[in-house]
Amino acid sequence: MDTATLESPRQAVRPNSQRYATCIEASKRVRWDIDRDVIRGRRFDFGKKFLPDALSKVTELAFLKPAEMRFLSQIQGRTYTNIFGLVERYIGAKTLEISRDYWFGDQVALEALVRFTDEELKHQEMFRRLEKMTAEGMPAGYAFRPQPNDVARAVLSKSTWAVLGLTLDIELFTQAHYRSSIEPDADLSELWKDVFLFHWKEESQHAVMDELEWRREDARLTGAERDRGVDELIELVGAIDGILRMQSASDADYFLLRAGRSFAPVEESAIRDLLLKAYRWQYIVSGVHEPRFAEVLKALVTPAQMERIGKALAPILAHAA
Ligand SMILES: [Fe+2]
Ligand SMILES: [Fe+2]
Repeated sequence: MDTATLESPRQAVRPNSQRYATCIEASKRVRWDIDRDVIRGRRFDFGKKFLPDALSKVTELAFLKPAEMRFLSQIQGRTYTNIFGLVERYIGAKTLEISRDYWFGDQVALEALVRFTDEELKHQEMFRRLEKMTAEGMPAGYAFRPQPNDVARAVLSKSTWAVLGLTLDIELFTQAHYRSSIEPDADLSELWKDVFLFHWKEESQHAVMDELEWRREDARLTGAERDRGVDELIELVGAIDGILRMQSASDADYFLLRAGRSFAPVEESAIRDLLLKAYRWQYIVSGVHEPRFAEVLKALVTPAQMERIGKALAPILAHAA
């Protein structure tokens, strides 16, 4: 049978098929197992830092002793894994939703998006396992405040354009953090470092697909719809900032409770401010500074919309610079 007769001419035009095929190939090549490849029967080394100084910014608190800096880095590292588990809930759901467009079309793109979703489900399982392992080695009292399903519902109530913009930002900074800060730091817990080596390997393909899908969604929109998308992207960043305020306050309370000594009021407020600043750097500002993100965003929005985004982000950028 002539296969050409099985598909409509519209479906036959698949400019991105090769790029999705490359993602599948890479996904198969790097695929890993939580126990066999990442954990390998190991435990965290609590004698070492988790999050590198370049991300945790703990060395800015010169009044902290080295062991206190290490503890603060471990608290931030614990929150870092939990934040990924959190955002992957909505990312997985959105990717599944988008895959619907390919059910009866490009089967290569469909496979790539299904693998993407499967990987995010595996990452969430890994981060849940790591939270349990971290809890065993750290004093009681830590709490991760935001709820994955509540956050996912709130994020997914926004337009696909806005959600994909946020997702590309997250998946680009994930890679940037590993390459520029985690990989070069020789003093981190080896297991913690390996977690983000393996995570990075699979995230590289995700960012490629986010960009393809964001551009595809963008091409379908009217100017008014895109303008609304810009507002929603700003709202999403504001919601992320709200989560960071809540979690940084909770992590500061935990540190102050378990640091083993009391601090002067001025030091306490410096710890609180440092945590919010570090979290804003990790989850918002470092992504915005990623050249690829800025490049794609600039290609999709008007100069006036870009200025609107810049104005909305300015206070956060100024605090976390
Ligand atoms: Fe992930
Ligand atoms: Fe991802």
